[in-house]
Amino acid sequence: MSDSTLFAAAAARVAGGADAHAEAAALVGAMTEDERRWCLDGDHPFWGDLSEMGQGGYHKRTFPAARVERLGIAGFAFSDGPRGVVIGPATAFPVSMARGATWDVDLEERIGEAIGVELRAVGATLYGGVCVNVLRHPAWGRAQETYGEDPVHVGELGAALTRGVQRHAMACVKHFACNSMENTRFAVDVTIDETALHEVYLPHFRRIVDEGVASVMSAYNAVNGEWCGQSRMLLNDVLRERWGFDGFVISDWIFGLRDAGASVHAGLDVEMPYRMIRAFGLDGDLAAGACTEDEIAAAATRVVATLLRFHPVLDQPRPPIDVLAQPTHRALAREAAAKALVLLRNEPVEGTPVLPLDAGSLTSVAVVGRLAAVRNLGDGGSSDVWAPSAVTPLDGLRAALPAVEVRHSDGDVSVAAGSDVAIVVVGYTKADEGEFIGDSGTAHLASLMPAADEPEVVAAYEATRAAEVRDFQPPPDAGGAGGFGFAKGGDRESLRLRPDDEELIAAVAAANPRVVVCLVAGSAVLIDRWDRSVPAVVQSWYAGMEGGHALADVLLGRVQPSGRLPFSVPADPDHLPSFDRDAVEATYDGWHGYWKLAADGNEAAYPFGFGLSYTDLSLLGTEAAQHGDEIVATTVAVNAGTRPGVEVVQAYASAGDGPAKLVGFARVELDAGERKVAEVRFPIARLARWDEAAHDWRPVTGPVQVALARHAGDPAAEATTVELQPPRT
Ligand code: BGC
Repeated sequence: MSDSTLFAAAAARVAGGADAHAEAAALVGAMTEDERRWCLDGDHPFWGDLSEMGQGGYHKRTFPAARVERLGIAGFAFSDGPRGVVIGPATAFPVSMARGATWDVDLEERIGEAIGVELRAVGATLYGGVCVNVLRHPAWGRAQETYGEDPVHVGELGAALTRGVQRHAMACVKHFACNSMENTRFAVDVTIDETALHEVYLPHFRRIVDEGVASVMSAYNAVNGEWCGQSRMLLNDVLRERWGFDGFVISDWIFGLRDAGASVHAGLDVEMPYRMIRAFGLDGDLAAGACTEDEIAAAATRVVATLLRFHPVLDQPRPPIDVLAQPTHRALAREAAAKALVLLRNEPVEGTPVLPLDAGSLTSVAVVGRLAAVRNLGDGGSSDVWAPSAVTPLDGLRAALPAVEVRHSDGDVSVAAGSDVAIVVVGYTKADEGEFIGDSGTAHLASLMPAADEPEVVAAYEATRAAEVRDFQPPPDAGGAGGFGFAKGGDRESLRLRPDDEELIAAVAAANPRVVVCLVAGSAVLIDRWDRSVPAVVQSWYAGMEGGHALADVLLGRVQPSGRLPFSVPADPDHLPSFDRDAVEATYDGWHGYWKLAADGNEAAYPFGFGLSYTDLSLLGTEAAQHGDEIVATTVAVNAGTRPGVEVVQAYASAGDGPAKLVGFARVELDAGERKVAEVRFPIARLARWDEAAHDWRPVTGPVQVALARHAGDPAAEATTVELQPPRT
């Protein structure tokens, strides 16, 4: 758009220090009533765009909104994530849960930067890939899109992604809030008390708001009887008034709100992605007093103010399209996949641990399992990325072992007999878990859809369509319905492997003592029925387009395993909170994850934060002291082995009778034989508890137990007590 518009002039003033909100209010004041309304929803007609989307349009263009050409307001153009940019042949990174297993915020920030560059190259300006709903239960279909079960860990990784993306574009954090069931996402009402909401389900959103995220997407579900897209409690009272969020809020797609006026009154700024409920319902709701013209202007002002603040970022030249999946981004995807791999088990066979494999002494390797040689990058819904290629486990091992006979079979165990080692790749695909695209139970929502599109909007849409829709074609191996990658997904039906996978493992283990099982999944898999029958198990995730190379890197010891579980693997499904995938009413309390296991006296099969290495790591004690608003905890990290290694030092703290919870963490790289002082700092505010009576945080004073540990419940960790001084007045 031209530099001589009202928007350009306002942006220049904001860059020079003028107040973005005041400038935006003036711009909104200069809008016609229609222009103001135009800012309140997506720019495309409902039926027109829906049919395009059904033909694979998800990957061919952005979702635009709030464009007011007369004033030079470009609006925003949305693309999904989180495993990369979903438009065009972009880099498919490992899924967020895998990236959560790296515990590497610097890496996540670099991934964010790469995604930001690719996002701009496809013409998008808003990245909808900061998904941070905590993993309440491993059956959640979209578990892979978030980073784990713990609010502090999830918040730090989401903040890192936001930092990286926002060097190039705006980021949107989702789904606000309590969105952790998939099949009934359009129907479920989550009942939750203030304490659980503020202590467990919101802190990570707050962390990312504090990081300066541009936008928040509301969730589909209801919380305490109100749809999140029209919850004044969440969008106004918590997000804006309590936290001071000054960006804009968008709805989740199509069914994210039910009432035009109530959503405006609640503080939802933009209905996405089409002209739908507001376009047809707002006039009536205004007349009925459900919202006011001032609230409409306030919503438009928040969008424009954010665009003004981000103008210097969005004004950077658009990168060329060939940045998509460029070599540096693929290298980053490979680094992330290698760092994400969690070594769960590595027992000796004839006196030596099975891993790492010694490439020099191998003559034959068997690679078995129906997932060994297929493109399997994760969910087939909104997070699907059309990576131009994908390195499977088989491809990766073959490339890494050119002089070794690599025998492959989906299910014929005979290839394992006589091989030096048998690698079994089992787990899930987008048919088993992911966004619920099949029968999403939307028939009852048909009344929300407009009878017909507005002719003038259709005409404008048709006029720009040819220029906006790109001729991106799905990769030949995308699979799914119509070759566009869509798959049923949904909440997982079982926490165990499919019976045929378990049978395959047993058969391979009978044929060869050296077995390495690779688990492909977006969250916890219960493996207790068979894990002790094989010497080695790794959680290898939906590892992204370079995943096969990364798997070979770690199995061959070219990269040290350093992943740590971002969730607990329970010993028994009964140790988890209840999960009913058909429920339309659910009650969430503050108890899930490792702190529920600890409170109930249940030991995890594999604890949160756990992961083995190829060397001998330990921590020597904990020292901790208060420094102003922070606690600084130190330990000595020791590598007593003969290989380099990476420790993820995890600080767990509790005050009073509260459970010990993660408050901070640090990755520490150690050479063979090295010892290093490792430091973890965390804000004391992380220990505060919610006070239901005061409807506010109750700061912590007095003694606090702090332990630096290698995983939750680490028996070797030594706690120390810090006597907190009352805050200075
Ligand atoms: C998902 C969101 C996504 C949106 C747009 C919705 O169905 O819940 O996560 O950003 O679609 O694709």
